This record gives sequence, C-alpha cells and structure tokens, in this order.
Amino acid sequence: MSDFTPRYLADYRAAYFSITRVDLTFELEHQKTRVTNQMHFTRNKAHNLPLVLDGEQVTLVSVKLDGEILASTEYQVDDHSLTLAVDRDDFQLEIVTEINPADNTALEGLFKSGDAYCTQCEAEGFRRISYYLDRPDVMATFTTKVIADKRQCPHLLSNGNKIAAGNLANGKHFVQWHDPFPKPSYLFALVAGDFEVLRDQYLTMSGRDVALEIFVDKGNINKAHHAMASLKRAMAWDEQTFGLEYDLDIYMIVAVDFFNMGAMENKGLNVFNSKYVLADETSATDVDYFNVEAVIGHEYFHNWTGNRVTCRDWFQLSLKEGLTVFRDQQFSADMHSAAVTRIQNVRVLRSQQFAEDAGPMAHPIRPEKVIEMNNFYTLTVYEKGAEVIRMLHTILGKEKFRQGLDLYFSRFDGMAVTCDDFINAMADATGTDLEQFKLWYSQSGTPLLTVSEYYDEQNAQYHLTIAQSNNEQPALHIPVGIELITSEQQNDAHLLALTKAKQSWTFEGVKEKPVLALLTDFTAPVKTNFPQSDQALACIMTRADDEFCRWDAGQKLLTTYITRVMKQPQMSLPDSLYQVFESILSADTAAAFKAEQLTLPSFNELVDSIEAVNPIALLDAIETVKRSLAKQLAPLFLKQYQASAQAGYSHDGIAIGKRALKNVCLSYLVTLDNHEHLLSQQYQSANNMTDTLAALSCAAAYPSQELNTLMADFAIKWSDNTLVMDKWFALQASINNDTIFDKLSDLMAHPLFSLKNPNRARAVIAAFTQNNPRYFHCASGRGYQFLIEQLVLLNDINPQVASRLITPLIQFKSLDAKRQSMIKEQLVKLQQHDKLAKDLQEKVDAALA
Ligand code: PHE
Ligand code: ZN
Repeated sequence: MSDFTPRYLADYRAAYFSITRVDLTFELEHQKTRVTNQMHFTRNKAHNLPLVLDGEQVTLVSVKLDGEILASTEYQVDDHSLTLAVDRDDFQLEIVTEINPADNTALEGLFKSGDAYCTQCEAEGFRRISYYLDRPDVMATFTTKVIADKRQCPHLLSNGNKIAAGNLANGKHFVQWHDPFPKPSYLFALVAGDFEVLRDQYLTMSGRDVALEIFVDKGNINKAHHAMASLKRAMAWDEQTFGLEYDLDIYMIVAVDFFNMGAMENKGLNVFNSKYVLADETSATDVDYFNVEAVIGHEYFHNWTGNRVTCRDWFQLSLKEGLTVFRDQQFSADMHSAAVTRIQNVRVLRSQQFAEDAGPMAHPIRPEKVIEMNNFYTLTVYEKGAEVIRMLHTILGKEKFRQGLDLYFSRFDGMAVTCDDFINAMADATGTDLEQFKLWYSQSGTPLLTVSEYYDEQNAQYHLTIAQSNNEQPALHIPVGIELITSEQQNDAHLLALTKAKQSWTFEGVKEKPVLALLTDFTAPVKTNFPQSDQALACIMTRADDEFCRWDAGQKLLTTYITRVMKQPQMSLPDSLYQVFESILSADTAAAFKAEQLTLPSFNELVDSIEAVNPIALLDAIETVKRSLAKQLAPLFLKQYQASAQAGYSHDGIAIGKRALKNVCLSYLVTLDNHEHLLSQQYQSANNMTDTLAALSCAAAYPSQELNTLMADFAIKWSDNTLVMDKWFALQASINNDTIFDKLSDLMAHPLFSLKNPNRARAVIAAFTQNNPRYFHCASGRGYQFLIEQLVLLNDINPQVASRLITPLIQFKSLDAKRQSMIKEQLVKLQQHDKLAKDLQEKVDAALA
C-alpha cells in the first residue's frame, strides 16, 4: 500500500492483536534519542495473520520477542511498517528505535521547541517514536521512564502519576510515570526541559485533591495566571453542568512556542501552543484572554469526551471534537455574553466552514475517505460537528441531553466507540427516534432553506412553508426556531421540526400579518433563502426576543446593500439604512452586542455567496458602505467612541464590551479624511494591547505617513515578546498598499522570522492571505504566487502547516474566471513539484480534479 492510497471508513476492521501494557524508556539526546518500547500483546480471536506495526522515520535498532533477540531475517521493515510472524497468543515484544528530535521540523512525534523536548502524537505521530499499533482502538496502560541531562532538563514529564525518580551517572537523572487509564497511543505525551511552574490545586466535587501545574518558559510565570484561573473555572463548570469530575491526582499543562495546532489533550499532560496559555494585561488582547479560556476549557473537557471515551477510528473524529467544541462553546457562553458568543460562533461557520463545505475538500462531519488524516482536523469536523451536537441539544432539551450523555458515559467509559454509538445512547436514554438525524453525519454541504409565507387575514391564519435542499441528498432532520412578531405584547416562539423536503405549518389565531424571525439562536447550520423587506428586517432588529435574530437581521440588511453597491457603485444608500444605524448607535444596548451589530459582514462571509465575484469589487463595496455610514453618522460614531473610553484598565465583561465598541467606532472614523490623529492618539495613550492593536490595525488598513513610525515604535517595545511580535508580523503583512510585496520579502528576511516556527509562519502568510484580501487577490496574481512560493518551502519543513495555509487557494469556485485560471495555473505548478507531501497533494489534487 502506497502512502497515497486512500483509506475508507467502510474498510474498518478490528485490530488482530491487542496491546495491554506498554513500558517505555526514553534516553533523550538532541539528535539521537533512544526509545525502548516493551509491549505486551495478545492475539484477538483465532487467526494466523502476522503482526504489522506502524512506524515512520524511525531507525530500528533491535527487536526482542519474549526476551530473545530476533535476527533481521525474522521480520520485515519498510518505510511505514514492521511485519513479524508470531505464533504465540500472548507475548512480549521489545523494540528499540532511534529518532532525531532536533531535526524534526514537522513537529509530529518527538521534537524540540527551543531547548525543550516535547511530543505530538495525534493523529498518527506515535509511529514516529516507535513501532506500534498506532490506531485509537488499541488501548494500553503506559509506564514511561524519561532519562535526560539534569541541568538541561530538570523537569521530566509524562502522562499519569510520578512513580519513581532518581539521579544517574554523567549528570543525568530520570523520572518514571504511570498512567492507570488505558489509552490509545495518540494520547501519549512526554515533555522534558527547563521551565518555571505555576502551581495550584483543585478539590473535586467528590473530594479528590488535584495538583494543577502549568509549565512555562522562564520569565513567563506571571502570564500563566489567567490560564490557571480558566482551568479551575472549567473544572467547576464540568462538574456543575455535566457531573463530570477529574480523575487523576495531577493535571499538567505545558506551554511551548513550536506547535502546529492550538493544543493537545494528552492524558494528564496537555501540551499547548503558548499563545493559548500566556496572557497578561499589557501584552494580551481581550480576544487572547477569551481564547485562552476557551482552549484551556476545550482540552480539559476532552478528559471525558475524547479520553475516557475515545474514537474507534479516525473517521469518528467528530465524536470527540464536535462534542468537545460544543462543550467549550457552552462554557464560554456561560462565562460571558451568551448572545455575543453565539454570534461569534456563527461568524466562524459562515466565513470559513460554509466555504469548506462548498469547496473541493468538502466532507461530512464523519468523513468516509481520507488520504492524510491531518487534513481532516477541519472546521467541518470541529465547528459543524459542534452544530450537530447543538441541534441534538435543541431537539432533546437540556435535561434529556444530559440523560443521553450520562448513558453514553456509563455505556462506553474506557472504550473506543463510534458516532453511531453516541447517537444511539442519546436515542435510547430519551426514547427519541434519531435515525433521520444520523444523516447529518454522512452528508456534506450546507443545506439551503427556502422559506415562503402566506397570511390569511380572514381566518387569522399564518401559513409557513420551508423547503430544504442540499445537492439532491435525502432530507435531514433540521430544528428550526422561529418567532412571530406582531403588535401583540408577546412574540410567539416555536421550535419546528423540519424533516421533509418541503413542509408547511399553519398558525391559528394570528390577528395580523406577523414578521417572521427565522432560525432563532441559529438552531441549524444552514443557509436561508427568504427575502425580507427592509422594514421587516428593521422590525426584527428591534422587536425580536432572540438576540441572535436581532443581530442577524442587521447583517442581512447590510449584505443586501453591499451586494447592491457592488453591482451599482454609484448608488446612494437609502435613508432607512442610516436610520437603522442611527438607532443602533443611540440605543441603550450592551456595548459588546452593539459592537457586533456595528460590525459589517466580512469579505469572507460574503464572498462565497456571490457568483463569479471580482474580489476587489466586493472589497470596494464593503468599503463604500462603511465610509458612507461613517460620513453620515460621524458625530454619533465620534460620540460613541469618546463615551466608550475608560480611564483605567479592567478586564470584566463591561470593560471588554466597551473596548470592542470603541474600536469598532474607530474603524469607521478612520475611513474619513482627517481622522488619522485618532489613531496616533489612541496608540500613544493606550494602556492595554486591545486598544494598541486596534489603532495599529486601522493604521495598516489605511496606511498613512505615520504608520511606519508607529510600527517601529511597537517593534522596539515588544522585541523580546514572541507572541506580541507575532502580532507585529501579522500587522505588517496586512498593510493595505502596494508596497506590500516588498514588505513581505523584508519580513521573510527579518532576523526574527522563521518558517520553522508555525506561529511566525502563520503570522506572515495567513495574515496576508486572510487580512489583506485586496493584495492576495490583486489582478496581477502576485498574491497567489507569493502563497505558492511559501508552500513550496513549507512542504519540506512542515507539511501540516503548509496544508492548512493552502485553504484560500483551493476555495476559488465563486471567484471570477480570470482569477480562477490564475489560481489553477499556480496549483498546477505545485502539483508538479516533486516530493510533494501527501498533505498538500491530497488538497491540490482535489482542487484540480
Ligand atoms: N486534539 C486537539 C484538540 O482539538 C487538536 C490537535 C490535533 C492537536 C492534532 C494536535 C494535533 O484539542
Ligand atoms: Zn479537541
């Protein structure tokens, strides 16, 4: 089987052997680490098939079967496996391998982040450490002994509890760990290095005293307090909300600067991208604070949804990720404004997941065919997966959802299971038929709801018809929340179960034609086709009980005018639009919510719903609408801007909301002539990173003489703070003028730049492609070319990072013909590159198919 052969869900077979116990010893050395792996195997059922272990990029040193060294003729090794014929049913295998952490730039398996050693095994990284049955349904108890130089690596960590430690010859020492919970290899972790530790403790609801430890680079300990507080909140929240309690005596989190993803839920030893741990008042934005709490929560929640109950195979990834994202979203909603949290979830779906679901890599939340598993850690599996869980929560209601989850844990604790197992537990516990609902797991694409209404005045009846369509696929069970708004005091709210291709409802006793607020709280991840008049939208904005619908109506109104202006750039906006904005600005609503109402739909939210779109024309239209609103309502924006200023700095919800509102007002004001002084004023007087960064990003969007001075000042102030310098690189890459391509070359040559550091690589490349669409999509094609050049370099360094960065280049379906052909030309070049990693190959092939 070649590396590029797809794997299919339909081909799943249980493993032929089990591994019950693993005893690992790591002798850590920079370029030559030796791993001794003793495994206890048992044969599953009667068969005489050979044992085939996974292994990649490891050097095999020796194999022992029940203590006897095997000759190299007694097994076969190729570049991804080791095959051994054994006739025993119960045996011990000891495999010694050598690996090279120092040269591991892919950051999978054992690698170095600065001077520290650390591992990343999900999804299939353990095979880069040793030969193993590297699949999630093979679960073993692990004992791990870590040996390293005591001065370089005073802290030696692995999963579970510390069971032994001591000094060795030559300045070395060791620590041995034991994890009593059987786990798949993807949850294995090891960390060794010199850290500062923030320590705390948590008493669980049943009285277990848990030691909490956060390991950070020296000098960063004061930036770990928010993460610690977030962890304790997450632990308490999971007890209160789901009755779920932590199960070991110690919970460790390590922050590293080199990491491909956000963080990893390894049992008892989470490894985090430092950007989701470190935060303090001066260097972190409000969004950073929010994200740290959310990711800390996410990884903690995995201890039950992912670790105690894990996935049978990687096609089931959404079993743990969709459910855990739903849990972290609920946690955030409970800690902050539920409405604003929900609005932000929906923005992510609409701007990114819908595009993925309409693009060449579209897949169901439970994919059926995979070439490179790392390519399936997607917005679909995570965010749409969370929406599917949320729909269940909506359909069943909070109590029944909880009963279903309780049954799921009691049935499957300690097991590796499937998405169907999960749904069946929810169905059985609540007596609900969820067979049709299961289709959400096998359909890709975003369903479209087409809505029509008819009011029958004589009979006081309101008729509502909803049709669903998604590429001719069978009808889904879609929960649709609605509100009927009339002049009555109370709006009439309903939860409809749309289960047919087309379905109608009649509401009786409706005394006047109601205004329909559709998809309250965004009950389903769908698109809608339901043209509503400006007046109806304005009515929803002020009268709907559901805050999401109030916000969404405003977005719809804006979308209408942005698209009109795009087709007719000279048109003037109607007074009614200005009035709507005027009432938003003067209303007495919570600042955070108001900030969301004032934020225009983004380029990415709009681009894939317009056919053959010229991205520059779309950007111009967004800009025109923004500038017109700013011009017309300048005094109000200014007033709101000034009224939202705060003397001191605090970090409560009110203060955060005010900053958001102030900065959205700033973003309008800077579109006007002679308002640049606001930027430098705000930059100079800011006492927190949110305000500083807001000033700088406005400055980058509307570059003036002063921009370079401000950027230089910022760089001097923060040159020794890695995470803040990532922000600086990202700002530079988003500068909106035609010096950008020289700027990009300068950035890549900057002494602090390295493609080997994923955060830094993303700070330049993703910031350019995402935050600088005018130049990414510029007519010369230079933006596309720039991305391809970086991908070619990254392909050899870190294919996983390369593969994530290619996204904007494969989602070209809605762009105009000229841009499509420029992009395809670039993709063909990439496709022909020899030694393209399968991560990129899979995506490029799909895009060009
Ligand atoms: N399982 C991690 C999470 O969602 C994500 C991850 C996947 C991290 C693969 C590293 C590698 O929390
Ligand atoms: Zn996760």
